[in-house]
Amino acid sequence: MRRQRSAEAAHDTGGYARRALLGYADHAGIERRAGSVVSAGSGPAGAVDGAVNPFPFVDGELHAEGVPLSAIAARFGTPCYVYSRAAVESRFRAFDNAFEGLPHLVCYAVKANSNLAVLNILARLGSGFDIVSGGELARVIAAGGDPAKIVFSGVGKSAAEMEAGLAAGIRCFNVESAAELEALNAVACRVGLIAPISLRVNPDVDPKTHPYIATGLKESKFGVAYADAPDLYRRAAALPGVEVRGIDCHIGSQITDLSVCVETAERMFDLVDRLEDEGIAVDHVDLGGGLGVRYRDEETIDPYAYALAIRKIVGSRRHELLFEPGRFLVGDAGVLLTRVMYLKPGEAQDFAIVDAAMNDLLRPALYEAWHAVEPVRKSEVPARRWNIVGPVCESADFLAHDRLLALADGDLLAVRSAGAYAFAMSSNYNSRPRACEVFVDGDRMHLVRPREEAAQLFERESPLP
Ligand code: LLP
Repeated sequence: MRRQRSAEAAHDTGGYARRALLGYADHAGIERRAGSVVSAGSGPAGAVDGAVNPFPFVDGELHAEGVPLSAIAARFGTPCYVYSRAAVESRFRAFDNAFEGLPHLVCYAVKANSNLAVLNILARLGSGFDIVSGGELARVIAAGGDPAKIVFSGVGKSAAEMEAGLAAGIRCFNVESAAELEALNAVACRVGLIAPISLRVNPDVDPKTHPYIATGLKESKFGVAYADAPDLYRRAAALPGVEVRGIDCHIGSQITDLSVCVETAERMFDLVDRLEDEGIAVDHVDLGGGLGVRYRDEETIDPYAYALAIRKIVGSRRHELLFEPGRFLVGDAGVLLTRVMYLKPGEAQDFAIVDAAMNDLLRPALYEAWHAVEPVRKSEVPARRWNIVGPVCESADFLAHDRLLALADGDLLAVRSAGAYAFAMSSNYNSRPRACEVFVDGDRMHLVRPREEAAQLFERESPLP
């Protein structure tokens, strides 16, 4: 029977609205650790939210929580990724608490930042994980994540990856095509296990984001067509190796418009109702990830406002809700620390050549993404418009264009909002060892991945005999 959206839909929203107005940070946690609070709405691009800032300026110098970034550069060198534990924890709690009272599970999208320290911090907070490969499965397990809280997304899972997921006892495979459904069934039958599944449905909603990170339009390679879902669920019900658990979607990334989230959730719950009318029941509804962060001046979506909107759509339904946020949890929790190597003022353009490059942070080259760049210590020299570029031999090797900055040789710069899709997308292009990663926790720093060494780059290669 179709579940009606009841008057309860708007139940108790006053409390959530009030909390939304107050800001959504875990104030106690982050104030204790970082000791820095800026007033609502005045935070620079890259601040964790309107209320707290894990990278404060203290005594004229940019810090990570209680540690001067210059001390991190002195100890570990540059380029170096620096993350704030308080920021990750605060973001997770903000998202998780926003859904308090509703059955839900936050499954962090591992692809955003898969360092074991990040995964372990989130596992300790009770997070689940959204993975897209056998490598991510291995990482989550190595970091102490609970396999029963893992969902496995992706259009191209191999038989070996399916088998590894089954052996680990993951929570759900998010199946993205009819062919994958048959393949998963075959693998499960071969190993004598039953694969819990949801179908990733493509709701055909425009996320209004960069085309490379839009995934929910019908032209996209992701998910199954909305209209095909009932037939595929019927097919799944007839297969001995799979068991239907849920329904899933993910329409894109860096979403800053709440209305597209609302449209997506409405379409998904309409489909859930239609499936239930036809006798196909699901236990959970996975609404994917996608909430954006403020790189520059974007108005981002407050998780309480998001939760409030979802609560209204859910109404009195009792499905467990799953979410797959990546960037929202870690994006603003990291900076890329880099040093100016050479200033090269020119006839047409002025270049500041720094020691981080497109192999360290690909987002500007790939998506023309804008990241705030700030000197760690304010300089006295006159400001001019610099292109911040790296040593890689490509004209696309830039971190930022046309930034008014006062720079001198040897200055340290922080590239903001580098906690998500930054190290995770780094490479060894130009045979550059990848940067080190450091976590700050209060006034302590922890090296969580040492800088790679040149010899490691080719240790698995060999000349012909
Ligand atoms: N779930 C699925 C199935 C996904 O494909 C993604 C991201 C997420 C969740 C998490 O999305 P988030 O909450 O982080 O927006 N490299 C790009 C972003 C690619 C996102 C890919 N999928 C960038 O640097 O902007």
